[in-house]
Amino acid sequence: MNLAWVPHLIVLGMLLGVRYTSTDTPGSWCYEDPKCGPETWAALGHCNGTRQSPINIITPDTVHNPHLGTVSLAGYGDAKKLISMENTGKTVKVHLADGLHLYAKGLPAIYTAKSFHLHWSQGSDKPGSEHFINHKGFSMELHIVHTKNNMSMADALKDPEGIAVLAFFLQATAHARPSRSWDSFTGHLKNVTLKEKKTNLDGSFSLQELLGSVDLARYYRYPGSLTTPNCDEAVVWTVFPDPILVPLNVVDAFPSIRSTNSDAGPPLQNNYRPLQSLGDCQVQASAALRVTPSSSSTLRPAALIPLLISTAAIAWHL
Ligand SMILES: *[C@@H]1O[C@H](CO)[C@@H](O)[C@H](O)[C@H]1NC(C)=O
Ligand SMILES: *[C@@H]1O[C@H](CO)[C@@H](O)[C@H](O)[C@H]1NC(C)=O
Ligand SMILES: *[C@@H]1O[C@H](CO)[C@@H](O)[C@H](O)[C@H]1NC(C)=O
Ligand SMILES: [Zn+2]
Repeated sequence: MNLAWVPHLIVLGMLLGVRYTSTDTPGSWCYEDPKCGPETWAALGHCNGTRQSPINIITPDTVHNPHLGTVSLAGYGDAKKLISMENTGKTVKVHLADGLHLYAKGLPAIYTAKSFHLHWSQGSDKPGSEHFINHKGFSMELHIVHTKNNMSMADALKDPEGIAVLAFFLQATAHARPSRSWDSFTGHLKNVTLKEKKTNLDGSFSLQELLGSVDLARYYRYPGSLTTPNCDEAVVWTVFPDPILVPLNVVDAFPSIRSTNSDAGPPLQNNYRPLQSLGDCQVQASAALRVTPSSSSTLRPAALIPLLISTAAIAWHL
C-alpha cells in the first residue's frame, strides 16, 4: 500500500465518522425534524398499518362491555421495583424489576411490566399526550409497557396481543397539591439530562404513588400498535380517561432534558405521535363507564339531550 494514501484515508474516515454521528443512521426516526418526523414514518415497519396508535377516543362511539371490570395491579406499590431511569433521546424510561403483574378481564393472559416512559410537549401550556378523549389532549401521557406471560419484547412483538400498555394522562393544574413522588421523579431528571444517561433509582417512589388515585375501573380498551417505529401492531391498549393531576412545575421539568448527548443539543420535547385514524377498530368502554338508569341523578344536562330527542321522536310517532 502506498503510504501517500494514509492521510487521505484518515481524512475520509474522519468525514465518515463525523457524518455517522451528526446525522441519523438509515431507518432512524425523530419527532421534530421534517426529514425524519412522524409524516415520514409510513415507510418504516408497520407504521402504515390498519390498527395504528394513538387515537382520538370519541366516547359516544365506544361500545360498552359490562365484562371489563377493575384492572388488577400486583406489586406496583413496591418502590424497590423501580431500578433505573434512562434518557433514551426519545423519552425518559424507567426500567422495572421482575414482579409487577397486570391481570384484567378481557386480557388473554397475565402480563408482566417491563418499563414505563412518558410523552410530553414543550411545557404545561400545551397538550403533549398521545391519545385524545373527545378531541381533548392532556399535558402528558404515561405508558406502562407489559409483555404477555413475561415474554421477551422480541417475541411479544410477533403476537397481536403480545404487549399490554396501560396509558395514564397527566394534567398540569395550578390547583394540584404538590406530589412528593412526582417531585422525586423530576428530581432524578437532573441526572439524565443528556441522551444515554442512566441513573439508579433509590426507592423514593413507587409506580402506585405516581398513579395516585386514578380509578382503575374506568378505562377504554382497543387493539392498536406501538406509537414509535416500527409501530408493531401487537398492543392491547388500556386508556384511563381520568388524569393524574400534577402541579405545573412537574410538567415543565420534562422539556429541560436534552435529546442528544450535548448540553447544546435540542431539548427533548414534543415526543408524541400525531393521532392515527381508527379505521375499523372498535373501542370498548369498561363496565364502570356506563351511565346506568339507576345513576340517573348523576346525568349531566348534555347527556339528557339525546334522551329528550328520542322521547320527542317517540311522541311524534305516536
Ligand atoms: C400507506 O397505505 C396507503 C393505503 O393502503 C397507500 O396508499 C400508501 O401508498 C401507503 N404509503 C406508504 C409510504 O407505504
Ligand atoms: C421474566 O423475564 C425476565 C427477562 O427475560 C427474566 O429475567 C425473569 O427471570 C423472568 N421472570 C420469571 C418469573 O420467569
Ligand atoms: C445525581 O447527580 C448528582 C450530582 O448532579 C450526584 O451527586 C448524584 O450522586 C447522582 N445520583 C445518582 C444516583 O447517580
Ligand atoms: Zn409511549
